[in-house]
Amino acid sequence: MLAIRSHFLNHFNDAPALVVKSPGRINLIGEHIDYNHGFVLPAAIDKFIELAIGKRTDGAMHMVAVDLGETIILPMHNLAPHATVWVNYIIGVVDQVLNTENNNASIEINLVSKREDLAAGFDICIQGNIPLGAGLSSSAAIECAVLFALNELYSLSLTKMQMALMAQSAEHTFAGVHCGLMDMFASLHGEKNKAILLDCDSLDFTYYPLVLDDYSIILFDTQIKHALASSEYNTRRFECERGLAIIQEKYPTVKTFRDISLEQVEACLAFNDIKGLKVYQRCKYVVEEMQRVQLAVQDLAKGDMQAFGKKMFETHTGLSNLYEVSCPELDFLVEAVSNNENVLGARMMGGGFGGCTINIIKKSAVEEITKTLTASYAQLMHKELAVYITSIEEGTHLVAE
Ligand code: GLA
Repeated sequence: MLAIRSHFLNHFNDAPALVVKSPGRINLIGEHIDYNHGFVLPAAIDKFIELAIGKRTDGAMHMVAVDLGETIILPMHNLAPHATVWVNYIIGVVDQVLNTENNNASIEINLVSKREDLAAGFDICIQGNIPLGAGLSSSAAIECAVLFALNELYSLSLTKMQMALMAQSAEHTFAGVHCGLMDMFASLHGEKNKAILLDCDSLDFTYYPLVLDDYSIILFDTQIKHALASSEYNTRRFECERGLAIIQEKYPTVKTFRDISLEQVEACLAFNDIKGLKVYQRCKYVVEEMQRVQLAVQDLAKGDMQAFGKKMFETHTGLSNLYEVSCPELDFLVEAVSNNENVLGARMMGGGFGGCTINIIKKSAVEEITKTLTASYAQLMHKELAVYITSIEEGTHLVAE
């Protein structure tokens, strides 16, 4: 890749004011749990978005997506969702800074005083190596890169957590996906060789060293990008809210899924009709996964990656059978490694309906497993498997010249 600085210079005939790098993420365990107020265990990875930015004075933003060879120019006022998808990840967060009335007074005061500067416009160039639609959060990486860059350029004094929350709101309003906080949180807060346990209720978080010794984290990409992924995602969210509301009718002290036992799920939701059955299955998965994450974190703290990996397989079974966000290709990839003694754990990762499986595989066996799986995936699923050997890296940061 030609450095993003050079692209910026070529395009705008000027050097950028600053350059930011923002990573994609993996999630070890705790899937579809962030928007249900549980714990998740993500980490930032060695796939990233690079962004170069400089100020303008004419009230316009000029946005260049180097990899796509596209340039879009828009005025800074009257921002609304745009037909070009990637543009929304930029203007969505700009809208957050310019227009959103924030509840936190200290952010608000600071943002108001800076809004005039920002309204004068900017030039942006982005490029990256996060595969699109692979469930590695390329969109969150762009949103975080833009917010981080604006925060630096206009001295907005936003914390990383505030930026994560603003990026999440941008995704809701400009991309129409009612996602949780995990992706943006992980992209911004990542640290080298550490997983982060995020409490999606209190937003407290703890870093856990990820000591894998002879093992590597490998992502197998189905290369399936399911068109229904975002609508099904929003449906899952709605089904969980529905189940929670039914349980709360009987148990008014219940605030979130954190307060719910499996017995309560059985007592309140085990209906017979199809719609009811779906709500029951979703809630059963959520409560089980929440319990699993707690135990998995104990495994991680003890360094018992064997036990941790077993729970990853269990998560996959739940996501496939109860939450129903898997697909034949993801199931195939997990099933194919499930009895391999060199694979500690494997499961589908992220929103689902395509994208990647995450696997913890013995380093010495990676080559052989990859070879066999690539062949069988081509033969039986008629697709080319993409393979990413992943390292855990630091979160969104400035890149020195
Ligand atoms: C997507 C969403 C996240 C999270 C995962 C599933 O990546 O953006 O907020 O819900 O799916 O765990």
